[in-house]
Amino acid sequence: MRVLGIETSCDETSVAVVDGRTVRSNVVYSQIAQHEPWGGVVPEIASRAHVERLPDILTEALRTAGAGWGDLDAIAVTHGPGLATSLLVGVVAAKALAVRLDRPLYAVNHLAGHLYSIFLGPDVPAGEGEGVVLLVSGGHTSLLRVRGPRDIRMLGETLDDAAGEALDKGAKLLKLGYPGGPAIERTAQGGNPAAVRFPRGMGPGTEGIETGGLGRDLCFSFSGLKTALLYHLRDRPGLTDDPQALRDVAASYQEAVVDALLERVDRACERLRPTWIGCAGGVARNRGLREKMAAFGRSAGLPVAVAPPEFCTDNAAMIAAAAAAGLGRKVVPVANLDVEPSAPLC
Ligand code: KG4
Ligand code: ZN
Repeated sequence: MRVLGIETSCDETSVAVVDGRTVRSNVVYSQIAQHEPWGGVVPEIASRAHVERLPDILTEALRTAGAGWGDLDAIAVTHGPGLATSLLVGVVAAKALAVRLDRPLYAVNHLAGHLYSIFLGPDVPAGEGEGVVLLVSGGHTSLLRVRGPRDIRMLGETLDDAAGEALDKGAKLLKLGYPGGPAIERTAQGGNPAAVRFPRGMGPGTEGIETGGLGRDLCFSFSGLKTALLYHLRDRPGLTDDPQALRDVAASYQEAVVDALLERVDRACERLRPTWIGCAGGVARNRGLREKMAAFGRSAGLPVAVAPPEFCTDNAAMIAAAAAAGLGRKVVPVANLDVEPSAPLC
């Protein structure tokens, strides 16, 4: 099935054309430069940029794929979770296209798209059996049990900040700019990850937070880590002006985030004895995390499926491919589709 996908849930405007799992085009316009001066995503700026860029990106995605409007079998769009006013731009455009082209419209959950991005690599992972998947982005940190495309169960999630958010906030404290994940990764090069022993566990005050029936030891917490960095810097004025000290702190902070993630993967594997493990989402682009996942897989004798780097951060290919694989909800009538900013994955 040839699907045109639209993704506008946050600060990337993206359109893709896929044939099943084959990506024909995946045009991503990142709004980073527009949000950078504010140190984070400004919703009003994001939605306006989506409106301005989407028409050109649609045309470019079709041109790159060598496809015409009439060649499309379906339209897919992210309807949530995400920023309401950003989601709205993609959803309105997708509805208009579906009506004009008289093609079915599929609503795809953004997190289901991230999960499916695992299957977009050249070496398709062992998706059979039972997988333990770490979904790590700027807004979400979840540990999932995946038995099939529609058999997904939440094992654990963050009780406060998401992993990407922890990196973004850490980078802000270190004056490294936005987005923080790539900035910390760059700065961490040549740094000593053992220089500072940052906490890996639950932050203070998380005992009282409800886990909604999830095992607390499979949940994440990054607020304590962020506070530890804040105190570390407060006690060492001028640290960020010393390039080597900055590299060491960045490397140690990144290591603490990655270790906290791997610790839960390890625990879940011990309990569930899965047949494969996987990782997706913006933070899965991090080389430190990718290497540690691979090393863990080797030591546990489990095949590892990590989304290809270009499909880790937000993109429309994962949305279109997820719809082609049957992971979307067919919207009938098309006019009924609304945004769902807090849509849960499962
Ligand atoms: O999946 P994504 O593009 O958007 C959301 O759905 O949230 O993830 C964005 C997050 C940001 O927090 C960003 O700092 C992080 O992914 N990120 C990274 C890297 N590239 C992006 N984190 C660590 N290392 C990277 N190379
Ligand atoms: Zn995302």
